[in-house]
Amino acid sequence: MGKISFVFLNQKTRSAPTNWPIVGMLPELIQNIHRSHDYVTEILKESGGTFEFKGPLFGNMDMVITCDPANIQHIFSKKFSNYPKGPEFRKIFEILGDGIFNADFELWELHRRTTLSLMSHENFYGSLERTVWQKVETGLIPVLDYFCKQGTDFDMQDVLQRFSFDSTCQFFLNYDPGSLSPDLPNVPCEKALSDALEPLFHRHIVPKSVWKVQKWLEIGNEKKLLEAWKAFDDFIYPHISVEGNQGKDNDVNVFASFKNAYEESDLKFSGDLTHFLRDTFLGLLFAGRDSLSSSLTWFFWLISKNPWVEIKIQEEIETVLQIKRNENWRFFSVEESHKLVYLHAALCETLRLFPPIALELKAPTEPDIFPGGNICVDQNTKVIISFYSTGRMESVWGEDCLEFKPDRWILPGGQRVKHESSFKFPAFNAGPRTCPGKKMAFIQMKMVAATIMHHFQVQVLESHLVAPRDAVMLKAKNGLKVKLSRKVHGIEA
Ligand code: HEM
Repeated sequence: MGKISFVFLNQKTRSAPTNWPIVGMLPELIQNIHRSHDYVTEILKESGGTFEFKGPLFGNMDMVITCDPANIQHIFSKKFSNYPKGPEFRKIFEILGDGIFNADFELWELHRRTTLSLMSHENFYGSLERTVWQKVETGLIPVLDYFCKQGTDFDMQDVLQRFSFDSTCQFFLNYDPGSLSPDLPNVPCEKALSDALEPLFHRHIVPKSVWKVQKWLEIGNEKKLLEAWKAFDDFIYPHISVEGNQGKDNDVNVFASFKNAYEESDLKFSGDLTHFLRDTFLGLLFAGRDSLSSSLTWFFWLISKNPWVEIKIQEEIETVLQIKRNENWRFFSVEESHKLVYLHAALCETLRLFPPIALELKAPTEPDIFPGGNICVDQNTKVIISFYSTGRMESVWGEDCLEFKPDRWILPGGQRVKHESSFKFPAFNAGPRTCPGKKMAFIQMKMVAATIMHHFQVQVLESHLVAPRDAVMLKAKNGLKVKLSRKVHGIEA
């Protein structure tokens, strides 16, 4: 099976960066900024999974970078209360306000409690199924069919982002912004979700004083971020309505639940109720739209490089679900998605190699020593955890760690997916902050992937260069340029 390699992965093996007087290791980081995830992975590989990065003098950029499962367990689970996201994270992600991604301690507990209670609502998954079905039927299929009939290539990542954006808004806001149609309309908030990712990533790696000045002058990346901020606000505020979802029969009402939580709490929020609801929804939008579309984009790219995996998924859809031939458009239910074991395994394998949230930032509140005893951190240390690198360590996943092998996830007998510890497979985070949307994510990914694979042959353009973007979400830098052809009776037309 072919190894995953991007053009830049074939460069010489790098050793750890030099620690220069005054500027520290910053010059080499900047030199490699265009391939930061792979650069960090190379360094971590050579240094046994953990590395101490020295920033410039007075730059407040000293960091410990790790991808070691033992450290992940220590930080995310055993010593959870010593490793909040911290004030630094909050400053970087100020755009998310009081939302769950930014929150620590009591504010985080309030969000977590309310989110989990919403997700355990008896109608949650029924409502999800209706929303996804409707969007697949009225948005995704017509758009893909259009490009298929035109015979033109298009950016699959863009289409998947639009799909996730519309369905997440429909699900949580009860409003479909209609970004997914054949003319691919410009919906500023949808575009802003992509535009904000690079500036947010840059805030992790340039000294704070630099981005603060840029923000004040409204230039460069910071200008982009301010524009995205405005686009979010213009889109979300008019749609915040506590009564919004009550027209739908017994559906999940996000705003009413968070309004109650806000009103019953003694916490000091940074703004009023409307502000809080805006921050809550923006967090869900980031979570829902970006992680799903990014995972599916990498999935279709990996499938195109590994056609035998596509054949196995296709066979599974037809045999396990006993799909009758001659069927016209066919959609897949939540119930059916649970039966697609091999597809589930292929998605896990995608997330191992391309976790949409590629890194995490933590700020210790008390001095601490990592397991193994040789790394000490304190209140001034930033801890960066690279989930991207964890999936690419031979020491964790074996010599074939760069190969796309869904079979590594299948238990003997072929009927069940193997459970891997979240410290070894942290794509959904680990410990008390484990992603609450994991089940929801797999359901949606499987419904969408199965529908597309059952109806279309996806062909990635040979000339198209695919590489990860240097952003907080692991997107494909140049999108995913594909051409489609229609499958008839499970066979390519
Ligand atoms: C493949 C899809 C997904 C992946 C890989 C994923 C991964 C993650 C990760 C790594 C985190 C931790 C982020 C952080 O703490 O900074 C997280 C948190 C979260 N995710 Fe997901 N997620 C996915 C889909 C979803 C979906 C569809 C939802 C539902 C809207 C969702 C809701 C959340 C929420 C609310 C949190 C915050 C949890 C907390 O801090 O306690 N996720 N997710």
